[in-house]
Amino acid sequence: MKEELQLLKEKAVKGLKECKTVDELNEFKVKYMGKKGELTRILRGMGKLSSEERPVVGQLANEIRDYLEKELITFTENLKIKEMEERLLVESIDVTLPGICPELGRQHPLSQVIDEIEEIFMGMGYNIEEGPEIELDHYNFEALNIPKDHPARDMQDSFYITPDVLLRTHTSPVQARTMEKTCPHVPVKIIVPGKVFRRDDDSTHSPMFHQVEGLAINTNIRFSDLKGTLLSFARQMFGADQKIRLRPSFFPFTEPSAEVDISCVMCKGAGCRVCGYTGWLEVLGAGMVHPRVLEMGGYNSEEVTGFAFGMGVERIAMLKYGIDDMRLLFENDVRFLSQF
Ligand code: DAH
Repeated sequence: MKEELQLLKEKAVKGLKECKTVDELNEFKVKYMGKKGELTRILRGMGKLSSEERPVVGQLANEIRDYLEKELITFTENLKIKEMEERLLVESIDVTLPGICPELGRQHPLSQVIDEIEEIFMGMGYNIEEGPEIELDHYNFEALNIPKDHPARDMQDSFYITPDVLLRTHTSPVQARTMEKTCPHVPVKIIVPGKVFRRDDDSTHSPMFHQVEGLAINTNIRFSDLKGTLLSFARQMFGADQKIRLRPSFFPFTEPSAEVDISCVMCKGAGCRVCGYTGWLEVLGAGMVHPRVLEMGGYNSEEVTGFAFGMGVERIAMLKYGIDDMRLLFENDVRFLSQF
């Protein structure tokens, strides 16, 4: 049995030296010193020994076990250090390399334009109002003097939710909502930026787009006030040399109504492809608030007058930045957006 133990020791020492990883060392431990390991197996045979032999063999077995345990610890420590060193070699960090900078987003060109429009009108004493994107037929049409079956409804082909509820087709309903809220007080001076929805989709129309509405009500507001306000806006937005032109038009909620052009921002009025060689670009609709609309809003149209206007934000952004396809504004391509 002594010889058996001696052999085991030699075998174990050799096996230990062959271990290359911490995992292999663990396997080694189980194989030789575990409950079902080789050392235990040999020691089970001790019962058969004589009482003289037993302490001698027992002592030898203990010595071998202690020896192997110590060796095992040394080997494990060394292997751990070696594995760590190898890993550090692969994963080493060069602290002198420049850092990785996360890409910063920026404000969308449409939000930039809306902010700029707000700035300009706040500078003229206007407040900013908002209204719901899901709107009642009453505010979107009726209160703006567009009764059922009026042909003006066709121009705003719409997304209906029920016969009385729709995605608003313009920001004008906020005119009616504001009058209802503010009446009988004057002055009213508001602009209303927001999303609107129509069943249109091509390179110059999107089913969702943005408008900024304007409304001013007071005693003695005249058409010249409207013209002066719009000229001031155009000059602040597009440059001090801007001209504007008003052409007669029709909107059910204004009387008289006008289509407003600015001198072409590309050719300064000389005529180019963008303005169709006219020198002018149409940018908004406007007019004096229809007396019937004032009355429906609760105001006495004998005592107060008002003007209103509405502009498309996409159109203004496209002109300002020379963008030729509206869909680019909604594709969220960073290569496009990072140019503004
Ligand atoms: N709501 C009109 C549209 O979406 C634009 C408009 C025209 C608004 C004239 C106005 C206005 O306030 O006076 O086509």
